[in-house]
Amino acid sequence: MRSYALLTLVAPLVLALPAPAPAPLPFPSPQTNNQETNVLTGLLAGLGGAVVNLGSILDAIPAVLGDLGTALEAADEVVSAIENGTILGTDVPAVVQKLFKAAKPTASPTTLTDAVNLEAKAWGATNPSQAPPTSQNILGNVLGLLLNGVNNADITSIANGFAMNVPLSNNKAASPNFYKIQTLLGNAPFSVPESQLLQAIYIPPEFTGQKQPIIFVPGTGTIGSTNFQPNIGKLLSQSTIGDPVYLQIPNNLLGDIQTSAEYVSYAIQYINQLTSKKPAVITWSQGSLVSQWAFKYWKTTRAMVTDLISISPDFDGTILALLLCPGFASGNAFACTEAVFQQVYNSNFITTLKSNNGDSAYVPTTTVYTATDEIVQPQIGNSASGFISDARGVGTSNTFLQGACLALPAGTLYGHAGVLINPTAYALVVDALTHDGPGDFNRVTASCVDVVAPGIGIGDVLATEALIPEAALNILSYLPKVAAEPAIRAYAGVYGQS
Ligand SMILES: *[C@@H]1O[C@H](CO)[C@@H](O)[C@H](O)[C@H]1NC(C)=O
Repeated sequence: MRSYALLTLVAPLVLALPAPAPAPLPFPSPQTNNQETNVLTGLLAGLGGAVVNLGSILDAIPAVLGDLGTALEAADEVVSAIENGTILGTDVPAVVQKLFKAAKPTASPTTLTDAVNLEAKAWGATNPSQAPPTSQNILGNVLGLLLNGVNNADITSIANGFAMNVPLSNNKAASPNFYKIQTLLGNAPFSVPESQLLQAIYIPPEFTGQKQPIIFVPGTGTIGSTNFQPNIGKLLSQSTIGDPVYLQIPNNLLGDIQTSAEYVSYAIQYINQLTSKKPAVITWSQGSLVSQWAFKYWKTTRAMVTDLISISPDFDGTILALLLCPGFASGNAFACTEAVFQQVYNSNFITTLKSNNGDSAYVPTTTVYTATDEIVQPQIGNSASGFISDARGVGTSNTFLQGACLALPAGTLYGHAGVLINPTAYALVVDALTHDGPGDFNRVTASCVDVVAPGIGIGDVLATEALIPEAALNILSYLPKVAAEPAIRAYAGVYGQS
């Protein structure tokens, strides 16, 4: 394998420690569906609050949900039964997996515009400058996406009860003194064993070693390769500009974000040493928080990168986070995962991250976000969760798509994942990577007339939008659930104050 050979050749380098240097279906009712023909009612109704045996619930879910109305009703029934305790929290994974397995596509988009619009439209978006309604049945919405042809191999695998196929690299360890030296350099300590940090750095076969390395940090509920290979990773690997490297962070970023940040900190140092080049870091969604935390508490990583480029980031968290934890609002304390709690708007984690100008960039930073983001809100203008300030004067640019590309194709209905295939977002990626400092919208205005970045096809759009159902499936399937966000690590009071 080419990547392995390369690693073997350059292994001595890493022994040195890092120097501090058919037409889509309509979505008739994206929100709660009030029709009386509930498919599970026959089973679940009239049980007077009793917990129903898991086997009977699974039996009540049809083997094929090939009709949008039926799928939405099934999702409503299941969410109500989770909310009222008829379905136990520990049975949620099996029930949700059965729903995903049963959801069969009945249509697929024939135009790029239709494909792009699917995601935001599943949440009821019609107006490009308006946030989606805050009351949503996320389970119904993502089943709607599956029925419209959105899917990927991870979803199929998990829905069928198998683990995801996570490509890992067989990277070589750095120095045995690595951890000690980190602390001497004023960096936060690591808690994850180095062998595990190394394994998560996936250097794909197409890595040339000749271009700038690009470290891709995924969002909640997925891995780096699935997150970026159908979009920015694919385009960069075909370009002369960047060599993608994907982070396969364990637990699909559903565990403590502070732990996930160790993977980013380590990967920056490792790739910098391996290639003797400064990488850029490209993130989606939570990956942006993970990376900002890494820059804050592992200070030496700041000088090792050229850029942070964040797609649909949630630097302030999101007011919609708890919609991902059905049952929580109605009193099931154990309905959420650590990383979801940490992404609640202004959580302890977010407040700690933003303290001491942590809401300002540490490295030249480019952000791109969309008003019709169904996961992260608020996401409009300069008060967006995706907006980053620049107290250190390192250079930032924040591009709000519907403002920048007002009334043009690239400023229309893009969802949380859709920004990954947006032409202006990709133009800013290229612009940032080919100039000092952040990407500059004024240099890429021509990109607003396109619907997707050149080189992206309908299949790529569908695979990218599949990140949303995949995240929902992984979040709902993840056990154990916790009752509160994890404690802030002791080092946060000691390191990274500026
Ligand atoms: C709980 O919700 C399910 C699904 O809507 C319903 O069938 C059942 O009757 C409800 N149970 C109670 C006690 O409300």
